Amino acid sequence: MARILSGKELAAKMRQEMQTELTELKSKHNLVPSLSVILVGDDPGSISYVKGKEKACAYVGINVQKYKFDADYPQADLLKLITDLNNNPDVNGILVQLPLPDHINEEKVLYAIDPEKDVDGFHPINVGRLMIGAPGYIPGTPHGIQQLLLRNDIDISGKHVVIVGRSNIVGKPLALLLVQKKPGANATITMCHTGTRNISDFTKLADILVVATGRPHTVNAEMVKEGVVVIDVGVNRIEDSTKKSGYRLIGDVEFEEVSAKASAISPVPGGVGPMTITMLLHNVIQAAKKQKGISKI
Ligand code: GUN
Repeated sequence: MARILSGKELAAKMRQEMQTELTELKSKHNLVPSLSVILVGDDPGSISYVKGKEKACAYVGINVQKYKFDADYPQADLLKLITDLNNNPDVNGILVQLPLPDHINEEKVLYAIDPEKDVDGFHPINVGRLMIGAPGYIPGTPHGIQQLLLRNDIDISGKHVVIVGRSNIVGKPLALLLVQKKPGANATITMCHTGTRNISDFTKLADILVVATGRPHTVNAEMVKEGVVVIDVGVNRIEDSTKKSGYRLIGDVEFEEVSAKASAISPVPGGVGPMTITMLLHNVIQAAKKQKGISKI
């Protein structure tokens, strides 16, 4: 039976470490990092993610200012708010929760954020920095996956990492992160996507398999080799009348059957999700320290 890679446990440990660091930052430098979170519309997933981010920030000692707008909020007003936050020295990080309503151009909004406050790591400047291995903000999910592996003593160097899914916030930045010639990376990468023929030809070759398609049942036991390490990034809501909420969460991987073959696997929920938020906290702390001249990144 596979070892469970608990993001929930690791995130709790890392958040405690951050809480200690922030207590020290406050007493030594009178610094309390600050994050502005913008939520437009009422997508239930986004509302729940933002709640999780607010709670985690409060726990470690990061101030959060939340801006919540109706789905018809004009793009021009959103861009004006971002400019104001860019210019406000009391704001260290800016996060616009995605997805945005259809009338808003996501690219325009993400490009408007000052790259030094872009704690999501979605601005092309930070994407470019990741591409060339320069210091910058790394998106939370790929960074969280890397930490989940490393802090469970799973070596990445020299391994064949197969990534299923080519999104800009998971698949592509993860490939860039793990291919670098650096400690904690140095992997051989294969990326699979909707254009890949016979995906299982590739997934069967993985030492580490990362599944981020947003589709339940993407990977089953027949598609993996014995001893594989599996990271399931999917968060899919499935109707379940036995739950108070009316739904439960499942990943992209057939957890039970794949667990029987894998050496380690991350669960859903309690796997990658808590790590994503934890690495966001890390970026906010880095941003605050850098902006106050306490550390470079
Ligand atoms: N929507 C889904 N994941 C993310 C994320 O990591 N950051 C933001 N801002 N929106 C998201």
